[in-house]
Amino acid sequence: MCGIVGYVGEREALPIILKALKRIEYRGYDSCGVLVQNQGEMMGHKEVGAIDCLVSSLPESGYEGKIAIGHSRWATHGAPTVTNAHPHLDCNGEIAVVHNGIIENYQSIKEGVLCDCIFKSETDTEVIPHLINICLKRKLSPTELHSGELNALQVKEAVKEALSYLRGSYAILVAVKGFDGLVAARKESPLILGVGDREFFLASDVPAVLDQTNRIIFLEEEDLVVVEKDSIYIENGGSEVKREESLIEWTIEDAEKGGYEHFMLKEIHEEPKAIRDTLMGYLTEGRINLGLDFIVDAESILLVACGTSYYAALCGKYIIENLAKIPVRIEVASEFNYSDFVLDGSKVVAMAITQSGETADTLTALKKAKGYGCKTVAITNVLGSSATRLADETIYSRAGPEIGVAATKSFITQLIIFYLLGLFLSKMPASVFAEHINELKRMPQIAQRVLDEVNIQKHARYLSKYEHTFFVGRGVNLPISLEGALKLKEISYIHAEGYAAGELKHGPFALLTEDTPVIAILTRDDIYEKTLGNVKEIKARGSPVIAIAEEGDEEVEKYVDDVIRVPRTSALFSPIPNTVALHLLAYWTAKERGCEIDKPRNLAKSVTVE
Ligand code: G6P
Repeated sequence: MCGIVGYVGEREALPIILKALKRIEYRGYDSCGVLVQNQGEMMGHKEVGAIDCLVSSLPESGYEGKIAIGHSRWATHGAPTVTNAHPHLDCNGEIAVVHNGIIENYQSIKEGVLCDCIFKSETDTEVIPHLINICLKRKLSPTELHSGELNALQVKEAVKEALSYLRGSYAILVAVKGFDGLVAARKESPLILGVGDREFFLASDVPAVLDQTNRIIFLEEEDLVVVEKDSIYIENGGSEVKREESLIEWTIEDAEKGGYEHFMLKEIHEEPKAIRDTLMGYLTEGRINLGLDFIVDAESILLVACGTSYYAALCGKYIIENLAKIPVRIEVASEFNYSDFVLDGSKVVAMAITQSGETADTLTALKKAKGYGCKTVAITNVLGSSATRLADETIYSRAGPEIGVAATKSFITQLIIFYLLGLFLSKMPASVFAEHINELKRMPQIAQRVLDEVNIQKHARYLSKYEHTFFVGRGVNLPISLEGALKLKEISYIHAEGYAAGELKHGPFALLTEDTPVIAILTRDDIYEKTLGNVKEIKARGSPVIAIAEEGDEEVEKYVDDVIRVPRTSALFSPIPNTVALHLLAYWTAKERGCEIDKPRNLAKSVTVE
């Protein structure tokens, strides 16, 4: 997903911009570019591929300057080419723009107000510098236009007018020749402002600037910002506004690999800590405080999400319905958004589950739920993200920064939030409640035991030789089998399908051969015998079966080829050890196949387009 960065200050800007772009590589991108204002000259450079290619192809001189912008692009309009890479410039090469988002009406702008302009790229973004150019010309007298110097007010007003033409989403940074600062604006795309000592950093993401400053201003929807090295001005709806700084406590080490070969492995190993941190945030002396008392009145809950978060939500449905006996409906956000949904918002609390808080489909779903009159809650891992601004209330999972594209610790903390929610909403007797709380409090330790005791690498070596697999489970572990399959396919590129164990016989049986291993979650729950029956049916079709089963379950060994042993928990909490085991299985299988684990092909950590 596109990343934008900008710098205004007293230091050389280019090294800062390049480092910031490296820090947000995890967002996923296919091309990149920078632009430095060197003594009034606009010096741009772009490349297809990695930031390292950009760095090595940069000329040794000519890029000195104290103001710069940079961009990593994940292609949406136009192929990943140098021409389509950002920054984009107006026809005179004097106004440069980097953009994250999508301008929906760019074609009609090209054919309308910009019909005389010549465009170089296929991008939607390129209309923005051209628009700013015509707006600037409209505002300046011929003397001002040729003076070579522009002030903040002139540039801000031109950008503001240009933005009024745009429909869609954007976070933009604008550099203008003759103006010693940057203008930035956001609408439905994230943008933060890092505050330093006589310097400012603009970025789509906090980790981009965290090595420079931990003083962060989370810009609000439709903020327009002007930064010069000594001043910052923020406007919203035509008037100046003040935005508070947040002090970010994540350290740079938090965002680095900490000795692990990949971020993903580090993040799986952080799952026990992430669970503990999330529990600590909401559990004091056996009582749950989510700060959301209004949800007690909900007659039902609607969960909307995408990707891994959708599987967490599906697991959440089983958990909440089991513990709280409240009906939960779950929808894939991209489907919900365009469905003829029947909903009485006064009775339903809608929850958006999104680790990044920026997934476009999920944000649209949140708006749609609000439109029905629902009270809304964001469950997210990212402080100040767009979902938190849109929703009435937020529950933060406390997984810490997650860099690997494949969600791991953020997923497991989402599950923890659902246990907390289910228990918070439950009306069970105090003694049963206390038993559940005690079990929940064991989860960090249970997750740690999976990491310490399970020898997953032998199973990974075995699995890595196959091209097709199935993951099956039932009940609360059906979503975990879907998550196990998703994780495996994302990072190892093995075709993996998650299925309800009882469903395999209704079609997929036709695919079962000795070359399609099946990973079966065989937790000792109320339907253990039925799931075991499904496994026997699978075995009879010749597929090798690896079970994920609890320690002490001797019976399972009679029916399967191998067993991944996980610590015993009550059945409702078994998704926690099972998830850790499946995350490890995906990681080690991908490692066995030599895959680029942290940045799987074609995927992005945060998908901010619909
Ligand atoms: C992308 C990521 C997935 C993630 C999904 C939803 O596709 O690659 O890992 O599950 O977005 O992201 P969210 O931030 O809303 O949880």
